[in-house]
Formats: sequence, C-alpha cells, structure tokens
Amino acid sequence: MLTVENLSFAYGTVGILRDISMAMKTARVTCVIGRNGVGKSTLMKNIVGLLRASNGTIQLGDTDITSLPANKRAHAGLGYVPQGRQIFSKLTVHENLRVGLQARCDGLKTIPEEIYSLFPVLKEMGKRRGGDLSGGQQQQLAIGRALVGDPKVLVLDEPTEGIQPNIIQQIGKVLRELVENRQITVVLVEQYLDFVREFGHDFYIMDRGMVMESGVTQQLSDEMVQAHLSV
Ligand SMILES: Nc1ncnc2c1ncn2[C@@H]1O[C@H](COP(=O)(O)OP(=O)(O)OP(=O)(O)O)[C@@H](O)[C@H]1O
Ligand SMILES: [Mg+2]
Repeated sequence: MLTVENLSFAYGTVGILRDISMAMKTARVTCVIGRNGVGKSTLMKNIVGLLRASNGTIQLGDTDITSLPANKRAHAGLGYVPQGRQIFSKLTVHENLRVGLQARCDGLKTIPEEIYSLFPVLKEMGKRRGGDLSGGQQQQLAIGRALVGDPKVLVLDEPTEGIQPNIIQQIGKVLRELVENRQITVVLVEQYLDFVREFGHDFYIMDRGMVMESGVTQQLSDEMVQAHLSV
C-alpha cells in the first residue's frame, strides 16, 4: 500500500537516511524501530511530505507521491500523528478535530461520530482546551485528528512515548480495530517492544539511517534487539 524505494535524505550536508526501502502492506501494522537518533522521525517526515528526499521514490497505492506537497499527500490518503503529538493547546478538542477535516476529499464539514466511538473521551472533553488534557488524552486527540481526515494509511510516530499503560492499551486496540474493520494500513514508529509484539505485524529495524533487519514481528529475535535496539 505504501512503498518507499531507495530513499536518501540529508539535513544540509549531514546524511541521515541511506537508501531506505520498505513496503507497508494493506491492513497490517508495520513497525519501524530503532534507537534514538537513527532517523525514524526523519523518515516519517519524508513519507508525509514535510521533508523532501534527495533520492528515491514514495508510492501510495498506485500513485507516485514523491513530488507531492504534504497537503496533497494528506488528500491522497496519508494521515500523520507526529512525535510529541503537536495538538493546538489553545484550541478546544472539537476545534482540534475540525482541523483534521481539511485532509478529506469529500468536503465533509462535521466530525464523524465514529471518532467519538473510537475515543469516547474526546466527546466528553470536547469543549476543553487541548492544553488542559493529560498526555494520554492529547495522544488520543492527535490520533483522532488524523482519523478525521479519513486516511488509508496512518503514520504514527512514537504514540506510546510518555503515556500511561492503560491508555497505551486503548490506543493499541483502536489501531487493531482500524486495521481489522477498515483495512487501514498503519505505519508505527515505536521503541516500546512489548507494544510492537502485541499490536505489530511486520517490522523494520533502522540503525544509523539504514534498514538493518525486517520481517514479521514473530521473527524479531533477542539477537536483533541486542545488536540494534538495546542501549
Ligand atoms: N532539523 C534538523 N536539522 C539537522 N539535524 C537534524 C534535524 N532533525 C533531526 N536531526 C538529526 O537527524 C538525526 C535523526 O533524527 P530523527 O529525529 O529522525 O531520529 P529518531 O530516530 O526519530 O530519534 P528519536 O527516537 O529520538 O525520536 C539525528 O542525529 C538528529 O540529531
Ligand atoms: Mg523520532
């Protein structure tokens, strides 16, 4: 559903991503894992169009999106939940969700009820300001905002970072439901391996800007963790 081929990227003269190739399959959760600073977020920003690769191609379904700006990629079906959530703290929960409507192609002007059934807390807290929510609630809001755009592919950058365990489980169950019931393709950057093993299907391990290992999550071995993930 989403393929990245031979992608390279540098910040100025500093090479960060080297010849990355990945294939994220429909209705599966593909986890991108790796230590701090290996380039995971840089890769996601390249995928969603916030950064532009120097080499390589990115394909969404049958469409080559490599040269599209971020807003057109969102229209093409890419949803993005950035690392650190980046919700608007001065806007209410409802207003934050409405921002997500811009990514839709059908011109819908109201927040679909489905978002509230996935995350009931967003309905209860609708009139509160984003900044008043807990970290876990803000993460749910960031995911809800991306889902309002009706994405085919949902990219999440470390959604469990700094979130309490009960909300982590809730988020995992929502991802599973989206994959199973709506055939959404999920790309999940994650350092929390228990979450990868519980909710992930496929994985890619990155180290220093390169793909070192890949497979289905059952194949994620202690040796791989030792070599590329433990600090
Ligand atoms: N705007 C920037 N300008 C220059 N270098 C940057 C910039 N953003 C990130 N980097 C560098 O690029 C490298 C990869 O960063 P990136 O944020 O992609 O890593 P990451 O794998 O997401 O790390 P983390 O797990 O800590 O989120 C790091 O060395 C980082 O310092
Ligand atoms: Mg990151």
